[in-house]
Amino acid sequence: MRILLGVPGGIAAYKAVELARLAVKAGHSVRVIQTPASLRFVGRASFAAITGAPVLASEFEDDPAKGAWPGEEPGSHTPISHLALIERADVYVVAPATANTLSRLASGSADDLVSTSALAATCPVVLAPAMNGLMWANPATVENVLTLKDRGFHVLEPEEGPLASHGEAGKGRLVEPDVILHSVEMLGAQTRDLDGVAVVVTAGGTREPIDGVRFIGNRSSGRMGFAVAEAAQQRGALVTLIAANSSLPCPLGVELVEVGSAAQLAAATETAFQAADVLVMAAAVADFRPVAPVGGKIDKSAGVPSLQLEPVDDILKGLAAKKSSGQVLVGFAAEHGPSTQRARGKLEAKDLDMVVYNDISDGTIGFDSLDNQVTLITHKGERQLALASKQVIAGGIIDALVELRSSGS
Ligand code: CTP
Repeated sequence: MRILLGVPGGIAAYKAVELARLAVKAGHSVRVIQTPASLRFVGRASFAAITGAPVLASEFEDDPAKGAWPGEEPGSHTPISHLALIERADVYVVAPATANTLSRLASGSADDLVSTSALAATCPVVLAPAMNGLMWANPATVENVLTLKDRGFHVLEPEEGPLASHGEAGKGRLVEPDVILHSVEMLGAQTRDLDGVAVVVTAGGTREPIDGVRFIGNRSSGRMGFAVAEAAQQRGALVTLIAANSSLPCPLGVELVEVGSAAQLAAATETAFQAADVLVMAAAVADFRPVAPVGGKIDKSAGVPSLQLEPVDDILKGLAAKKSSGQVLVGFAAEHGPSTQRARGKLEAKDLDMVVYNDISDGTIGFDSLDNQVTLITHKGERQLALASKQVIAGGIIDALVELRSSGS
């Protein structure tokens, strides 16, 4: 596996040397990039000797290996892009992720190799923070970590214990290098199990116009669908994300189609489905819409208007009826109260391969929240995924998808 190791300037940088050593010993191909500040703690020579490859510490210096990884022949020309290494990395790990690094990554800075690589990464990025306990507990750091997690970075929370600076203790100690490597290997091993698979994901909530300014909508933020799209992309899929009214940033490497109403969602999904291997329908689609939306704005002085509604066709059911062999369809079922039975009914009624069921009566999960707890329902059985961030849940959904595809259903 190609592991790119980004080393910022913190006392725990010496442990990054051990991480590089363990990774090389385990047979991985490792390249190291350092921030200029980290050179004050550990010199390039240590990493270069261990990895057998040159170490870069500035986006303006040429790579003597011309973008090659250990074990590869150097290319014939110097890569133009200082992003040549991140482009082909299977996993990018930043250790020790200092408070300053977390802040820079959360704000999208691109002022050195470590931060530009994080911005351009399409592979999983693992952040292993290490810092003084007070800095870790500071609300600014707490918020930066939340932001980064929300954007799909994998944060390995620091441990309690003695800290690198003499006499200090608290939460802020870098996770042990062997534990970091284990996480990196887990993420890297999964990366390509959807290689080249065309995945369409719908996300967000549709809006059905009442007039030119008002609509009937729902509370879906799009987070779950965006997380599924991102997880699929990271594991090698070619992902089209059809998003209804979501303000979330499009995950890197994902093709975004923006829609508003259920009719627009239906049209875009039908088109994308033709070339799709997998459809994950995470969008919350309106069940009813106004029969005749009014142009302009309804004047309230004319009294309370009566809205005549009509049902919206079930997009998923319509596509399942047309699916060709090998296409896998996944629906979501948001049920008020614990009812896997009702969700299983949807699996059968809509002829799906899997239903992701969540209980929306628990206000702390599901709609608009960062976490979720779901049960995956297939024709073979049920699997409950523990309460976790939507990124982690998305990984579990992709695992199940990979299984469904390999079992041919
Ligand atoms: N769906 C769809 N087209 C619709 C409505 C829903 O494709 N017009 C999809 C959703 O994207 C989701 C699943 O069907 O994947 C949800 O099914 P639905 O029967 O609408 O269930 P809920 O909305 O969760 O609940 P309810 O039964 O209360 O409507």
